[in-house]
Amino acid sequence: MKKITIAIDGFSSTGKSTLAKQLAKELAYVYVDTGAMYRAVTLYTMKNNFINADFFDKKALIDSLSKIQLEFKFNADLGFAEMYLNGENVEKQIRTIEVSNFVSKVAEVSQVRSKLVEQQQEMGKNKAIVMDGRDIGTVVFPHAELKIFMTASAETRAQRRFEELQQKGDNVSYEDVLKNVVERDYIDTHREDSPLVIAADAIEIDNSYLSREEQFSAVLELINDVV
Ligand code: C5P
Repeated sequence: MKKITIAIDGFSSTGKSTLAKQLAKELAYVYVDTGAMYRAVTLYTMKNNFINADFFDKKALIDSLSKIQLEFKFNADLGFAEMYLNGENVEKQIRTIEVSNFVSKVAEVSQVRSKLVEQQQEMGKNKAIVMDGRDIGTVVFPHAELKIFMTASAETRAQRRFEELQQKGDNVSYEDVLKNVVERDYIDTHREDSPLVIAADAIEIDNSYLSREEQFSAVLELINDVV
């Protein structure tokens, strides 16, 4: 069977990573969560006090970019790769609401984007990859054989993310999660560099009323049409 590149883009908390992980497992492909990379850079920015609620020293971040080393390491017990920032496993730290609140601001910085896009293209050069993010079908792999664009109502997405965070013991309110989802959507779709847009050749899936299984089998059919 021919190896392909699968690009999954869409708004925050649309279940992109759940779908991407299911597909990677089924096809024995590599899965890359590019959001984790932007989150790890954000964590670095926060830890170095380059950003807070009313201040963002972009120059300090840009000057430090060469010191940021990102790596995915496969965790066989979990069945997917975890994010390492300068050698430290930061998988838990990057999923907090604090990081979510700053990540879209960090992801607006062009120098951050070009560093990460280069690394993503390198990871996908041999195909057999499922990558999810905001600009995968438009910028990272404009020639991907299959492009999916995922949407769902902001309320549905916030409810899902809220339940996820609660399960992890994160003490957040639904209102704060909804606010974060709406704010990130706004920044991600309005930024100058690589805004979140649907690629002309992407297939749009609104999963507000689709179960995971229904969505998965619909996408498997799309893959069968391509390979
Ligand atoms: O996918 P996730 O919600 O973890 O992504 C976190 C943030 O990282 C997004 O809201 C967006 O600002 C940024 N991002 C991006 N481009 C990508 C992936 C994520 O700008 N390819």
